[in-house]
Amino acid sequence: SNRTFTMIKPDAMKNGHAGAILDKIIKSGFKIVALKQTKLSTEKAGEFYEVHKERPFYGELTKFMSSGLIIAAILEKENAVADFRTLIGATDPAKADEGTIRKLFATSLGENAVHGSDSDENAKIEGDFFFSGLERF
Ligand code: GTP
Ligand code: MG
Repeated sequence: SNRTFTMIKPDAMKNGHAGAILDKIIKSGFKIVALKQTKLSTEKAGEFYEVHKERPFYGELTKFMSSGLIIAAILEKENAVADFRTLIGATDPAKADEGTIRKLFATSLGENAVHGSDSDENAKIEGDFFFSGLERF
């Protein structure tokens, strides 16, 4: 597929990096299909990250993801899922390559600035979680 889904997480929003992150995404060749600023409840964050519910960091993750504003967006580019994960870098910013979004803007392993879908299937599910049909034509 040629679409992926991203969130700019509360740490990057609070640290004033949203503009720089969107600029980098656009300059890396991604087109914005849909975009909104919103805030997740702990329940909604828990639903979004349901696959991680047995992991020891689940409570911390859902608390963090509901701690402030986020930006959610659907992005379009050839090979979108894989190319976007390359652009954001490793989950742990300490292990992320130079020039990646997490290397540049993330705070820590838990507070790592951005989300990127890990498969075409999840990109669709995650985009549908935030955007109605009218919002993502
Ligand atoms: P996402 O794009 O956000 O899904 O990150 P990812 O695909 O690189 O990592 P993964 O799906 O495995 O984990 C989801 C999120 O959980 C990560 O982005 C982190 O924010 C958080 N996370 C992962 N491992 C840990 C951990 O060991 N401790 C804490 N506190 N958070 C973690
Ligand atoms: Mg993931």
